Amino acid sequence: MNQDKVKVNLSGVSQTLLAPLRGRAQVSKEYSSLFYDAKAIELAEKIEMDLDDDSSASDVHFQVLMFNAIRKLNLPVDPGLFSAFRAKQFDEKAKAFFTEHPHASVVNIGAGLDTTFYRVDNGLVHWYDLDLPDVIDIRRQLLPEPDRVTYIAKSLLDPSWCKDINTEGGVFMIAGGVFAWLEESQVKQFFSILADNFPDGEIVFDNMSRSDGFGLWINQFSQEQRGALQTALMDAMKSWWEKARQDQKDKMIATLETPTKPKGKEWTDIEAWWNQLSDKEKGEAMVGLTTAFRGGVGMWTLRDVSEITKWDNRITVIDQVPTFRDVPRDVLSEDMRRYMDYSDESGRSSVIHLRV
Ligand SMILES: C[S@@+](CC[C@H](N)C(=O)[O-])C[C@H]1O[C@@H](n2cnc3c(N)ncnc32)[C@H](O)[C@@H]1O
Repeated sequence: MNQDKVKVNLSGVSQTLLAPLRGRAQVSKEYSSLFYDAKAIELAEKIEMDLDDDSSASDVHFQVLMFNAIRKLNLPVDPGLFSAFRAKQFDEKAKAFFTEHPHASVVNIGAGLDTTFYRVDNGLVHWYDLDLPDVIDIRRQLLPEPDRVTYIAKSLLDPSWCKDINTEGGVFMIAGGVFAWLEESQVKQFFSILADNFPDGEIVFDNMSRSDGFGLWINQFSQEQRGALQTALMDAMKSWWEKARQDQKDKMIATLETPTKPKGKEWTDIEAWWNQLSDKEKGEAMVGLTTAFRGGVGMWTLRDVSEITKWDNRITVIDQVPTFRDVPRDVLSEDMRRYMDYSDESGRSSVIHLRV
């Protein structure tokens, strides 16, 4: 272990910031013609990236356990693809906004250790990186605020952050990998804060579709890989179950949509039910299980973007673009191409651009 590297000790949702940073750094190194972020490479090298060490976290998030389980299997896809290519779309949309609003304010919601500013800065914008106080402390330590950049150590649900923003030149917001960690009621509350404070402001964010649970993605792999992945996911669910609150477990069981159901609410009931399923039934059941687990921890997913406009008639949709739509596929491996095509065609992941 390198003594000079910084160890980032975070728990709960804050611990999710390392994976997207590592993803952008990795894609920058391996596919620099498609996406390049020198600052992400520099930052990732300063940090001890032991993403698998979740043992010290007191409040381990299910999705973190799930990603760690998947990463250990070395499947022929790179989870970093999402964070790099959503960032690429954000960059293009931000630059387009700057052509009309060169003195804009950009708010990076749930900024983590994201380095978008360094990729898109036009020398004029005001930039704000907003995240929870423990994250901003680490950000400040690793990446001190440059000129024209302000760090805001507040929850995105605390409306007082809006008063910190200079709105004169127009407001553009990005939120990468953030809303999936919130409950739907919190996302609603957040959009109403935006509409109250930034009329004509714009926001881009990524979305995972509710209609495609993780389980469908699993069905892309060989039988052997699927078996290993299912075992890893069941282990991740068990670890989560041991720490989850009773109300989360109840919610998970209540939302479970599978052809058959466990007989009770204990982990042993789920395991007993799982063990008696056939291979084909396991494939179907994994779709329901991973979707219900995400529901159990309150992760927000969206079936259709029109759901948001129904929450608040001040919000309009500018567009929704599949995450990998404009990524040239020629330098990518066959597996990656297949994965991107599958993701885009199934509507699994997209970038949504709204006006509030
Ligand atoms: C998966 S990370 C993404 C970080 C960054 N956007 C990126 O793409 O690298 C999610 C981030 O959302 C932040 N976050 C979660 N809930 C938040 C809240 N209520 N207020 C502010 N930030 C929050 C976390 O602390 C974390 O940094």
